[in-house]
Amino acid sequence: MEPSSIDLTDLSLFADGHPHHVFRWLRDEAPVFWQEPTRSTPDGEGCWSLTRFEDVEWAAKHPDLFSSCTGGDRDGGGTLIEDLPLDFAAGVLFNMQDDPRHNAIRRLVTPSVSPKRLREIEAGLKERCDEILDAAVAEGGCDFLVDVAAELPLQATASLLGVPQEDRHMFMAWADATLDYEDRELGEQSASTQEASAAMFAYGADLLERKRACPADDILSIVANAELPPEADPGGPMTALEQQMFFSLLIAAGSETTRNTIAAGLLALMDDPAAWAALRSDRALLPGAVEEMLRWSSSTTYNRRTATEDVERHGRAIRAGDKVVLWWCSANFDERAFTDPMRFDIGRSPNSHLTFGIGSHFCLGANLARLEIRLVLDGLLDRVASIVPAGPTERTRSNKHAGFRHLPVTFEGIAR
Ligand code: HEM
Repeated sequence: MEPSSIDLTDLSLFADGHPHHVFRWLRDEAPVFWQEPTRSTPDGEGCWSLTRFEDVEWAAKHPDLFSSCTGGDRDGGGTLIEDLPLDFAAGVLFNMQDDPRHNAIRRLVTPSVSPKRLREIEAGLKERCDEILDAAVAEGGCDFLVDVAAELPLQATASLLGVPQEDRHMFMAWADATLDYEDRELGEQSASTQEASAAMFAYGADLLERKRACPADDILSIVANAELPPEADPGGPMTALEQQMFFSLLIAAGSETTRNTIAAGLLALMDDPAAWAALRSDRALLPGAVEEMLRWSSSTTYNRRTATEDVERHGRAIRAGDKVVLWWCSANFDERAFTDPMRFDIGRSPNSHLTFGIGSHFCLGANLARLEIRLVLDGLLDRVASIVPAGPTERTRSNKHAGFRHLPVTFEGIAR
């Protein structure tokens, strides 16, 4: 493979899922890879790609060297390959902040998704999941992406944020429009992206106002009424923009990623009837299957950092201010870290994938996502003997979210 032919910003490369052949070549031949700008590279500048497990983990665990906000004399930053404006998105969105402010906010919101809290909400979520599955199975088939995989995460996100369930389909439309690259390239905005962002912003502003006036037992009420300690620099309330961006972040983070994992996991299980049969006869295999679905789907493909100082890795000189992309989806298939990584193996142990990232920005919703995936899978195993494709699968056009828009299936051997 010619290095100059590799363009990880070309969205068509991701049209059929992770481009494993490219990542494998990079891991073997160019683990710290400098991509020159191409027509599709945003901001007209190149970026570094880290693809081996140990390098991705190393960078994620050194937020002092690799900032989620910015570095060098760059005037933008954030965790997408395209620069986002400083003090509007980079440095303001919770996941695009550095410590100590990021950590101060994280400490405030973590109890909302703690193991204790999840135990409290599990029965309610299971009820929701049962209703969703009963309705889908009663039809004998469905668009699994829309009717099942998207539904539970949307309902869970609505509960977490403390918003009326009836509004959840607006969330899906906004998340789809802002995360999709259907009618645009990286770094570009389309009319539908702008419209969705504006609608989400207005909804969030109104909701935050209500949470300030009338706090309830939800994560947004915490954010709306937050008092940060002095080390958050500055202490006191989160800014209105931080609160607003937190709302938008959870809409996207809470719904899109989990739905894509459930869908990709189901596709893998449909291709592996032996694994499905093993799960039907032994539910003790369920937690391992969930972890393998997470690794296999690697639904958040990457997060970017910006180097804060000059640093050398594998003989390559990364300069302060350079963009550095951490490809979770490549690390998760690194032959150096996983035995036979291209095999979907629900019994894989250990399975220390990086699907949720690692280090200070480790996914806040990891355990919630795991719970949702387990409930859906468990409920399906209870209800149907097998599931088969009923038409072509439609994927999202993105190198950031390995996602789906439609996944038609037929249920077979329905338990009555
Ligand atoms: C399978 C589903 C999910 C996947 C694959 C996923 C993936 C990730 C990854 C890779 C990161 C690290 C970002 C970085 O290092 O820059 C992250 C962070 C985050 N995730 Fe998730 N996520 C999932 C579900 C969720 C859910 C359900 C929520 C809702 C609560 C959520 C909320 C967040 C937040 C708020 C952060 C930022 C954490 C921080 O910066 O401290 N995620 N997620």
